[in-house]
Amino acid sequence: MGDFMLILNRGKVKTVLEYTKDQVFIRFEDDVTAFEGAKKESMKDKGSINCKISTIIFKRLGESGIKNHWIDTNGLATMRCHKLDIVPLEVVVRNKAAGSICRQTTIKKGTEFNEPLVEFHLKDDSKGDPLLTPDRMKLMGYDPYTFISITNKVNIELIRLFNLINLDLVDFKIEFGYDKNGELVLADEISPDSMRLWKAGTQESFDKDIFREDKGDLLAAYRTILKDLERLDYLPYLDSEKNKKE
Ligand code: TMP
Ligand code: ASP
Repeated sequence: MGDFMLILNRGKVKTVLEYTKDQVFIRFEDDVTAFEGAKKESMKDKGSINCKISTIIFKRLGESGIKNHWIDTNGLATMRCHKLDIVPLEVVVRNKAAGSICRQTTIKKGTEFNEPLVEFHLKDDSKGDPLLTPDRMKLMGYDPYTFISITNKVNIELIRLFNLINLDLVDFKIEFGYDKNGELVLADEISPDSMRLWKAGTQESFDKDIFREDKGDLLAAYRTILKDLERLDYLPYLDSEKNKKE
């Protein structure tokens, strides 16, 4: 696929290309960034690894009844997705404390929350992705509770998925958009770039913190996650859970 397609958006690590009136291609580039883009590197195959991880996750979430934009993945590092009207919010879920919540409060890294925290940030690097209050969100025209209800379901499914490969889901960020029927659906990517994963029962990172904090081989960790998720894909575990409910 060449760049003859109209580029709708060039993000820090992904490019969105127009395919049809209703569909886009999302191409994962071989880049990794942190700190609002201040730290940046290129890593061969990183794009295709994250594309494959995102694909497995979106497929699983779809099978669990969580609507998302993913249609299929044919190219090495490209997902075909429904075109959405993207909501400029980053929805962050925290099961344990790490990252900004520890920097901004007195809460210690690793503290487990009884109820997951759901936070909303404005998606605007130039403003530093500021934290929003529910009131501010409402004034911007968004109902926080619609987002929270889908987000909690995503959290439950992701915790379960990563537990199966011996990882604790510490936190993650998701994005949303409205489809052509005006329905709110999950968008963007879900990959170890946008979550924190710790080896079960430890604080050993299998996510972008390896790059943020210069503490090891990022791609080796991402490859391990992909390999483990792909292996799961062939096992009946996840489906048998679903079948029980039916
Ligand atoms: P934080 O600790 O920096 O607030 O991040 C919480 C989670 O959200 C972490 O898994 C990283 C993810 N995240 C993104 O993917 N993109 C972002 O722009 C931000 C701020 C966080
Ligand atoms: N917004 C940050 C970035 O530049 C997020 C992060 O540090 O992960 O990628």
